[in-house]
Amino acid sequence: MCGIIGYLGQKEAYPVLLAGLERLEYRGYDSAGICTAHHGTLHLHKKKGRVENLKSITLPGTIGIAHTRWSTHGSPADKNAHPFLDQSKQFSIVHNGIIENYLELKEELRKEGVAFTSDTDSEVIVHLLAKYYHGNLQEAVLNTVKRLMGAYAFCVLKSGNQEIIAARNGSPLVVGLNGGENFIASDVSALIEHTRRVIYVDDFRLVKVTRQGVELSDFQGRPLPPSIKEVNWNIEQAQKQGYKHFMLKEIFEQPQVVEDSLRLNLSLRKDFSRLLIVACGTASYAGLVGKYLIEKIAKIPVAVEIASEFRYKEPLFSRDDLILAISQSGETADTLAAVRLARQQGAKTLGMINVVDSTIAREVDDIIYTRAGLEIGVASTKAFIAQLVTLYKIAYALAGQEFSGEGLVEKVQQTLSLNSQLKDLAKKYFAYQNFLYIGRNINYPLALEGALKLKEISYIHAEAYPAGELKHGPLALVSEETPTLAICPQDSVYEKTFSNIQEVKARNGKVIAVATQGDERIKGISDDVIYLPSVKEVFYPLLAAIPLQLFAYHIADVKGCDIDRPRNLAKAVTVE
Ligand code: F6R
Repeated sequence: MCGIIGYLGQKEAYPVLLAGLERLEYRGYDSAGICTAHHGTLHLHKKKGRVENLKSITLPGTIGIAHTRWSTHGSPADKNAHPFLDQSKQFSIVHNGIIENYLELKEELRKEGVAFTSDTDSEVIVHLLAKYYHGNLQEAVLNTVKRLMGAYAFCVLKSGNQEIIAARNGSPLVVGLNGGENFIASDVSALIEHTRRVIYVDDFRLVKVTRQGVELSDFQGRPLPPSIKEVNWNIEQAQKQGYKHFMLKEIFEQPQVVEDSLRLNLSLRKDFSRLLIVACGTASYAGLVGKYLIEKIAKIPVAVEIASEFRYKEPLFSRDDLILAISQSGETADTLAAVRLARQQGAKTLGMINVVDSTIAREVDDIIYTRAGLEIGVASTKAFIAQLVTLYKIAYALAGQEFSGEGLVEKVQQTLSLNSQLKDLAKKYFAYQNFLYIGRNINYPLALEGALKLKEISYIHAEAYPAGELKHGPLALVSEETPTLAICPQDSVYEKTFSNIQEVKARNGKVIAVATQGDERIKGISDDVIYLPSVKEVFYPLLAAIPLQLFAYHIADVKGCDIDRPRNLAKAVTVE
């Protein structure tokens, strides 16, 4: 959460930082700010709200740091916006993460006469720097990190110095190199416009960035050789290319994602007795589809644990288990902690990660990269699809069976033609306050995913249940005011789900059914039917995901919601 960026080069820093912040805005958008250094003075502009609020002015200088905030400590107010300055206005910092011992540090600094200007945990960093500065900025940063507990990536700018110093422990940080101009940022999307040559910074590392290059050291100040990598995606992927929102663009990229994912070459050793999947949110629902799939196809037991629960519940697992961490960003704090816990206790870990060289990708024993490409919309769509296809590949590989792809690319493409129907349905259903989503078996996780999509971007309350659970409580919610979205393709549990739809209809509930092309019977009892192409039972989740994404998207659009930046959320959840 929160995006940070630093720049130094020949260009005016302010517009460069502003453009970088716009790309990082998906990480948080409660406030934004920029600090530049020019002729021995720091210049600061920061504001509550979106990055665009910074556009009315500019600041001088060819070196600067910037921040876009997702609030943790302190409300989204001007005073809590980064960058922060020390009292002498010589030092400025931007921070992503949480300083857990900030209250204690604040107390200590207050006693020494520091007057704090914000309610944040981050501000202690800049005052510690000022306290420890005796002529060498790098030394001051090293002494500062010794005092900090928690997670952080922060950048430091000092008036009069032609350098940016950054430190990392637990929050992502990447350096971008482009000849006489260099960058440092939370992720590659902020730099990709300028360069594809990057250095991923590890935990407990300090980086000094100048116009000439980069010096890397550990927290004891010992120099380390930087490893330069080439990023394999480009600026077009970071642009909307005519789509109204990134989410819509990413939904429409899904046929390509399926095609790319099918090409994945997997070599899996089947030397484990149980697969234990750890993940959060949408990634955990992909994991749940994986459970149904792998148990059905490969006959290997699979457990799925929400990473935030796993890490705090004294989980039982053995060295015979394989821990599979699924994550788009590869930075989710809870999933990362689950991986670390599993490794500490001697279990083998495998990552299914989308962002190359992200923290989880670098920490797991083995890695499978999903092939979704850059996902910018906060609501995950194409990354989910890539996770599903990868899980199909794993299931068939573990079963020793051939998986050719079954014409899935064309079927996904065909399913996208439902877009205009879903646009119309959105106009019909957008005013409802509550929805139920039901599905059975392998489509139950899709009900969870569909409900999550609706909640997060349209702010409509939606609850998902295994269809068979309705009669154990949620049926009491059914009324004319609460429509039910039922995933009911012609599969082995069709008749059962069909009966559940009848139960809803008998109680005056409206039903939108997601069904198989040609199913006339379901039309007779449902208010609206969304038809999917006919596929083998196990592949329905892949197709059903698309109308569920489009339904949420168009409802949110009709309601005028900020689809790519839903309130209170951020793309990479790097805090607990
Ligand atoms: C929902 C969504 C989130 C993420 C979750 C895990 O649309 O995007 O629920 O799936 O925060 O994120 P990753 O996959 O980056 O670990």
